[in-house]
Amino acid sequence: MTPMTPTATTVVAGVVGHPVRHSKSPILHNAAFQHLGLDWTYVAFEVAEDAGDRIVDAMRTFGLGGLSVTMPFKRPVAESADRVTEAVVRLGVANTLFWDGDEIVADSTDGDGFVLAHNEHFGSTLSGRSVAVIGAGGAARSIIEAAGRAGASDIAVVNRTPSSAGDAAELATVARVADPAAIGDCHVVVNATSVGMTGGPAPDLSPVDSSLLHRGQEVVDIVYQPALTPLLRLAESQGARTANGLGMLIQQAGLQIQRFTGLEPPLAAMSDALRAVV
Ligand code: ATR
Repeated sequence: MTPMTPTATTVVAGVVGHPVRHSKSPILHNAAFQHLGLDWTYVAFEVAEDAGDRIVDAMRTFGLGGLSVTMPFKRPVAESADRVTEAVVRLGVANTLFWDGDEIVADSTDGDGFVLAHNEHFGSTLSGRSVAVIGAGGAARSIIEAAGRAGASDIAVVNRTPSSAGDAAELATVARVADPAAIGDCHVVVNATSVGMTGGPAPDLSPVDSSLLHRGQEVVDIVYQPALTPLLRLAESQGARTANGLGMLIQQAGLQIQRFTGLEPPLAAMSDALRAVV
C-alpha cells in the first residue's frame, strides 16, 4: 500500500519524547492508519526536556489527533491532562493522550498491552494464575497493575532494589515483594528489566536462574532485541513456553490506535510492518 501524501486535511498524531528518534511507534501507527484508510499521519516530536507541562496544551493548540508519550514526559502529561484513567490514577504516569469530546484524557496502555499479548500468544489468561514480575521500573509497574486487574491470584515482585519492589507491589492487592526463589512456583514469569537487551546494562545475562524455569511455565521477556534473549533461551531449554516483547509493543500501540480513532487496530498489518524493521 502506498502511503497517502499528507494534505491540508490530514490529522497529525505522534509520539513525544526526549530522545525519541529511535522510536518504532511511527512504523506501527502509520501502518495502522494506512491499513484503515485514514487520512492520518504519525510523526515523532522531540521536545525540550523542560516542556513536559506544555504538551497537553500543545496537543490542544495544534489539534493533534492523539499522542503517544515516552520518557521523560510520562508523569507531567498525567498531571496536566483534563482527565486520567484508573490505571493512570494508580501509576501516576501515562503513555497516551487522546480526545474524549473536548477533553484530553491520559491513559496507560503498556500494562493492558502486556495482558493482551500474553493472552493472544499463549491462548490463556492471567485469571487465577500466579505471576512473577522481575523488575520494579516503569514497565514492571504497568504490568503489575494490569495483571492485578486481569485477575492474577498472586504477583511476586522480584527486584534488585527491594524498596522499589515494595512500592511496585502496592499497585495490586495480590502483589508482594518476593525472593528470586518464588519464581519457580509461578505459572507466568515476566522479565520487565532491560537485562538481556542488546545495548543494555547486561546483554548476555538472564535475570532468572535456569533452576527456577521449568515445563508448564509461560515465560515472557519484555525485551525484543534480540528476539531470543538469554532468559528465553534458558526457558526454552527447560521446556517452558516463551514470548518476547514484540507482542506487547504491538498491542500497546493497538490500544492507542483504538483510543485515537475509535476503530479496531489492524494488528496483523502493524505486526508485519514492525517485523520488517526489527
Ligand atoms: P523502565 O521504565 O524501562 O521499566 P527503569 O524504570 O529504569 O526502566 O527500570 C529498570 C528496571 O530494571 C529496574 O527494576 C532495575 O532494577 P533497580 O530497581 O534495582 O534499579 C532493573 N535493572 C536494570 N539493570 C539491572 C541489572 N543489571 N540487574 C538487575 N536489575 C536491573
